[in-house]
Amino acid sequence: MNDKKCIVITGGNTGIGLATAANLSARGHSVIIACRDQNKARQAVESIRAKRPSADIEARTLDLASFESIRSFATQLLGDRPCIDVLINNAGAYPTRQQFTQEGFELQFGVNYLGHFLLTHLLLPALQVSGDARIVHLSSIMHHLGKIDESTFKGRKKYSGTAAYGQSKLANLLFSNALAKRLPTGITSNAVHPGGVDSDIYRELPTLAYKILRLFLISTKRAGAYVADMAVSPTWQGRNGEFKSAHGPLPVSRRGRDAALADELYEKSCELAGVAAI
Ligand SMILES: NC(=O)c1ccc[n+]([C@@H]2O[C@H](COP(=O)([O-])OP(=O)(O)OC[C@H]3O[C@@H](n4cnc5c(N)ncnc54)[C@H](OP(=O)(O)O)[C@@H]3O)[C@@H](O)[C@H]2O)c1
Repeated sequence: MNDKKCIVITGGNTGIGLATAANLSARGHSVIIACRDQNKARQAVESIRAKRPSADIEARTLDLASFESIRSFATQLLGDRPCIDVLINNAGAYPTRQQFTQEGFELQFGVNYLGHFLLTHLLLPALQVSGDARIVHLSSIMHHLGKIDESTFKGRKKYSGTAAYGQSKLANLLFSNALAKRLPTGITSNAVHPGGVDSDIYRELPTLAYKILRLFLISTKRAGAYVADMAVSPTWQGRNGEFKSAHGPLPVSRRGRDAALADELYEKSCELAGVAAI
């Protein structure tokens, strides 16, 4: 293949990330899945190789709930792969009980958003080498429910999993927009709602609620194909700062379009993650 891309997918061991990894490796690209659980990651790699023995896919360790893990992942990756063409910020959690990252951030803010914020900045040098790189952020329709409330970044007195998830998905979208404005020529940033997708993310829902919800969900294969197109297809060439849904037309919320809010969150996140603004 002439245009073989180096693609990094966070949390590619299951769900949409795994389907995206399978799709992109079937297209002949070199795929790295960045996962916290190496047993699950190995199984994911084996499942892809079982269908396509020549697949160029590997798993590496990344726990987005730890800045130390993110930094160590990035250092090793930059050492081995000085050129990265695509970063897919896919990993996400939706816990019903309040949890925290190693640095004390509320888990959804910390993993879904801030961990990816740090990772993206650390990988920028390799994305710049590509000259034609793309960053894809997995946001959600749930960004409509999100508010950016600094007083909750380190936890909520009254925890609501949905409010925390909404905030993290709004933050993903605002980050994508802030990056789109700031990135040098040759790197683009776009966000996606992958659809209501039948994945493990709903693992903590009560059984009946999940059974009902399932009726309205699309497959991980369909969502993964959409994300894979955003990552490599000519249709997405040069597009920057967009938000699209894999599940039909979807407007962006008022907060999602707020450029001042995106700038404010960007500056604050640089401080929280300890990185210089671009
Ligand atoms: N499913 C939907 O309907 C839907 C809708 C809108 C947006 N999204 C977004 O799509 C993305 C993928 O979700 P999904 O539906 O595929 O969910 P999923 O099946 O639960 O997959 C989530 C992935 O994130 C990984 N992850 C969680 N915490 C992590 C951490 N601390 N460090 C590294 N990886 C971590 C998980 O790893 P483990 O297997 O180790 O937990 C898993 O690989 C998420 O960002 C989600 O918010 C999903």
